[in-house]
Amino acid sequence: MNDVLCSPVIATTIATAYAEDGYFFPYDVISETEAAGLLADLEAAEAEVAADRARLSMLRSYPAQLLPSFARLIRQPRLIEAVSQIIGPDLLVWSCGFFIKEPSAKSYVSWHQDLNYWGLDGEQEVTAWLALTPATVENGCMRFVPGSHEKKVVPHVDSFAQDNLLTRGQEIAIEVDEASAVNVVLRAGQASFHHGHMFHASGPNGTSLRRVGVAIRYVAPSMKQVSGDKLLVSHVSGKDEYGHFDVMPPPAGRLLEEDFDRARRNTEMKRGILYKDVKPELVKETRRA
Ligand code: NI
Repeated sequence: MNDVLCSPVIATTIATAYAEDGYFFPYDVISETEAAGLLADLEAAEAEVAADRARLSMLRSYPAQLLPSFARLIRQPRLIEAVSQIIGPDLLVWSCGFFIKEPSAKSYVSWHQDLNYWGLDGEQEVTAWLALTPATVENGCMRFVPGSHEKKVVPHVDSFAQDNLLTRGQEIAIEVDEASAVNVVLRAGQASFHHGHMFHASGPNGTSLRRVGVAIRYVAPSMKQVSGDKLLVSHVSGKDEYGHFDVMPPPAGRLLEEDFDRARRNTEMKRGILYKDVKPELVKETRRA
């Protein structure tokens, strides 16, 4: 499956659907067997660092920097081909991290837009969300509001709610047309793509199985970090003629000390961006963007 790149018809479909709806799914990236292999690699690494909470958190936030299997995934030709149809062939990965919902966990994600708190200056960004286990309505798959990306940036309020997986528990402060939302159901190995202004949310996991997905945030090199420090990014396709970010090399091995050091530095810088103006006692290590 991996050596079959987009046909011209599929490429047009992705670009057209994305422009109109702000998303595209489902898209076959890897086989279910390959997805199971990636999940097994993650879970083996989780077991190896389980005694060290900081390392466990870094592993879940920077898998492409700590595990060669995920460094290959963010460069996977099927993903690059699809994202290139949307924001062009020159691609950096601004971040890559897991969204894990443990069995019967109450954790959820409130309605939000991604680009609201990332301190980036444009909208040349695409999230590829790849399912490592099936994403279903029962286990809390994402929901998208078609066309909501056209509203550009809308106001959010910070709730800091306990079970909210987002950094600030941020929530869209205007009315969200939930009735029109679509469920982003994926089999393991499939991905969805969504715009940085897409209204999206997801519910708790009501099943007895773990729900695991990996969110890869691709940006065009012309994008600029306008708040916070220059983040460390991965250069995964084409050229970078801007130098707006510091590019880090792929990991030379598995769970290497030098890569944990880089992940630690990036964590500090990203915390400064995602928690800008937030009181220190509200900052949680395990929260996500
Ligand atoms: Ni999001």
